[in-house]
Amino acid sequence: MKLQKVLIASSNPKKVKEIKEILRPLGIEVIVPPKKLEVEEKGTTFLENAYLKAKAYYEEFKIPTVADDSGLIVEAIAPYPGVYSARFHSIPEWGKEEPIPNEDEANIRKLLRVLKNKTNRRAKFVSNIVLYLGDGKGIFTEGEVYGNIIESPKGDKGFGYDPIFVPEGYNQTFAQMEPEEKHKISHRGKALRKLYELLKEFK
Ligand code: IMP
Repeated sequence: MKLQKVLIASSNPKKVKEIKEILRPLGIEVIVPPKKLEVEEKGTTFLENAYLKAKAYYEEFKIPTVADDSGLIVEAIAPYPGVYSARFHSIPEWGKEEPIPNEDEANIRKLLRVLKNKTNRRAKFVSNIVLYLGDGKGIFTEGEVYGNIIESPKGDKGFGYDPIFVPEGYNQTFAQMEPEEKHKISHRGKALRKLYELLKEFK
């Protein structure tokens, strides 16, 4: 199946930018929804949440829709932050952090506090991608990347936990890498390239 255009079920500008950068070289144009839908991410897995988002946007706009649900899983406190990655600062476990100056920085501050003096700093990013095509038809893929959480943030590119995540085999954080370098090895890059390969076989 040849897909030239997909709608993206996200209003997170940094995630949208990454998905566009990954799909553009594969010849797929990404369309941003004309309005934001409030989709409650009530699933307990990345896959359920990705499916809920893709289906909701498809039903509103009737265009094949891609959704990414992703997060960081830290071995010492697994499965956290997990499905709570975006709002880790606000969950009661380990105490709340004020979202100051923003949510990403509060999430990082809390995670570094929780991991203080912990020697096991292994973690992985996971991305679940759902492409919903209507009529109950769709495809899903998953991508992962392993790495370590460092003790203080480095770099100002990317988003989320990028400044404290050093992928295995590298000595820079995701936030210090150029976007193309991150996309070659990232969970999201892997999951979206798998989706592209699967689409070729999909009738
Ligand atoms: P979602 O929008 O519910 O999928 O939330 C994903 C959250 O996981 C983001 O807000 C980030 O905190 C984190 N996350 C996912 N992917 C990445 C990434 O590539 N870099 C850094 N953080 C990420």
